[in-house]
Amino acid sequence: MRAVVISRPGGPEVLEIRDIPEPSCRPEELLVNIRATALNRADLLQRRGLYPAPPDAPQDIPGLEFAGQVGACGAAVSDYRVGDRVMGILGGGGYAEKVAIHQGLCIRVPEALTWEQAAAIPEAFLTAYDALHRQARMARGEFLLLQAAGSGVGIAALQLAAAGGLRAIGASRSESKRLLLQKLGAGPLLDPRSVAFVEQVLELTGGEGVDVILDMIGAAAWPLHSRLLRARGRMVVIGLMGGARCEIDLGELLRRRWTIVGSVMRSRSVEEKIELTEEFSRRIMPLFENGRLAPWIDRTLDLSQAGEAHAVMERNENLGKIVLTIGRH
Ligand SMILES: NC(=O)c1ccc[n+]([C@@H]2O[C@H](COP(=O)([O-])OP(=O)(O)OC[C@H]3O[C@@H](n4cnc5c(N)ncnc54)[C@H](OP(=O)(O)O)[C@@H]3O)[C@@H](O)[C@H]2O)c1
Repeated sequence: MRAVVISRPGGPEVLEIRDIPEPSCRPEELLVNIRATALNRADLLQRRGLYPAPPDAPQDIPGLEFAGQVGACGAAVSDYRVGDRVMGILGGGGYAEKVAIHQGLCIRVPEALTWEQAAAIPEAFLTAYDALHRQARMARGEFLLLQAAGSGVGIAALQLAAAGGLRAIGASRSESKRLLLQKLGAGPLLDPRSVAFVEQVLELTGGEGVDVILDMIGAAAWPLHSRLLRARGRMVVIGLMGGARCEIDLGELLRRRWTIVGSVMRSRSVEEKIELTEEFSRRIMPLFENGRLAPWIDRTLDLSQAGEAHAVMERNENLGKIVLTIGRH
């Protein structure tokens, strides 16, 4: 089968299409013919040699999500048949024509969604759902702050927030992204680099600050985040685009009774991922079927253009997901 391989650590040019052996299918696994996959920030780090894949995933094929058709079923598979449309998250290996995946990690693709739309859902929406509802335990009416609002995960979180009755305040450094998100009804969108940013968030939250911060930036954002998290607020750290190391005043953490949680999807056990996938399928997938939620695709390219797609993401140009299609549709 064809796959995109990281030939050596480096820039987008190190991604090469190669012919490699097909994965084999264990008893509880499906062999899926992938129709589309999508990029994630982690793919860029993996390509540079800074984020190795977990031991059970291919080390040199990026790709944390897929949508495709079941081509074969392992002997113990009971939930799916050949031909079923499925999507899901992976530890790696999504930039390929085929993948073997545990049946419990698959989500049925609703009729109404194209392969491209389906591939744009799993990683962003599962991550955002887990962070907002399982880690932060957000309640209706609470205020949520998130920077990088135009990222794949950011847009998923804004949509889930609206669907769950949360009051989201988004921020993005890019004016064009803020304008586009605003036109599409995403609620208040602010410039985190403006001197008025802290004032604006405090004004929107009645002077109290927000209940929850979904942090994809890390160290560089802590000086702002620490001024904007209200007493008893919760912060879920899921990304470190602005660095990992910073100084935290533990006295402030203690006095303000903050909860700070770190969370990552990729290295979780299969059992944990299956539990999350089942809950997501049950609670969230109906919202894609009735159109309340919709994946947001920035652009679609062919698998052979993976390098170009990585360069777009590295330049922070995408608003929402970059999808790679595979084979004929
Ligand atoms: N923990 C997990 O399991 C998990 C899973 C998936 C993703 N994530 C994390 O979620 C974040 C978003 O991922 P994604 O794939 O959705 O990203 P994406 O679509 O590539 O969007 C990232 C956006 O973040 C903004 N940005 C980049 N560097 C920044 C910085 N230093 N400070 C502030 N903003 C910055 C840029 O938008 P502007 O131009 O608007 O600033 C960029 O377009 C990443 O941190 C990723 O690692 C975590």
